[in-house]
Amino acid sequence: MSTAKLIAPSLLAADFANLQRDIELVNNSEADWFHIDIMDGVFVPNISFGMPVLKAITKHTQKVNDVHLMIVNPDQYITTFAQLGAHNLTVHYEACTHLHRTIQAIKAAGMKAGVALNPHTPVNLLQDIISDLDIVLIMSVNPGFGGQSFIENTYRKVSTLKELIVSKNANTLIEIDGGVNTANATKLLDAGADVLVAGSFVFNSSDPVNTIANLKQLCL
Ligand code: DX5
Ligand code: ZN
Repeated sequence: MSTAKLIAPSLLAADFANLQRDIELVNNSEADWFHIDIMDGVFVPNISFGMPVLKAITKHTQKVNDVHLMIVNPDQYITTFAQLGAHNLTVHYEACTHLHRTIQAIKAAGMKAGVALNPHTPVNLLQDIISDLDIVLIMSVNPGFGGQSFIENTYRKVSTLKELIVSKNANTLIEIDGGVNTANATKLLDAGADVLVAGSFVFNSSDPVNTIANLKQLCL
């Protein structure tokens, strides 16, 4: 099944002192999702923001809240994230001992369930759970920071994952996160990507709304 391709600006690259302004900018753009990165300083060597900030963010967002958890022990916070307005909740494969249980809990809380893979984690590890997943997020940089350069091996991973999804007749979306820009977007979409996250490329540009439009144009 082919689906519309989506753009998800990452708020990690927004101006946190002008967060509402940057949220409105995305609300008024052609973006499809808000990508929201939660880091705990344990799973990744950085801390972004937590529950009070997420609560403030989702008060203003008018699109899908796509929450990417870069935290250990995500299970204990699943219902909290649902209450705070997450529509999609993505956990890391590397942080979940009982991934199947975690995925079922996310769905039971009323959210779409996603699994993120670090650059070193092969997509084939998902073959026995792919049919349960709404989203697979392929990290195209090592998680923890915005503004890093795109890892070229990602294209191959996207193609392999797409083959797996098709072979299982699954409806899983492939989301790419890290170093995405207009120079690599087309190749990612051609390889089978459905959702492109872009942080610094959008918010560090002189006209973020136009940059989002340029990315969206490549999706058509
Ligand atoms: C990194 C985060 C990304 C980050 C992407 O760990 O998961 O979502 O915001 O930022 P850019 O697009 O700047 O690589
Ligand atoms: Zn992310």
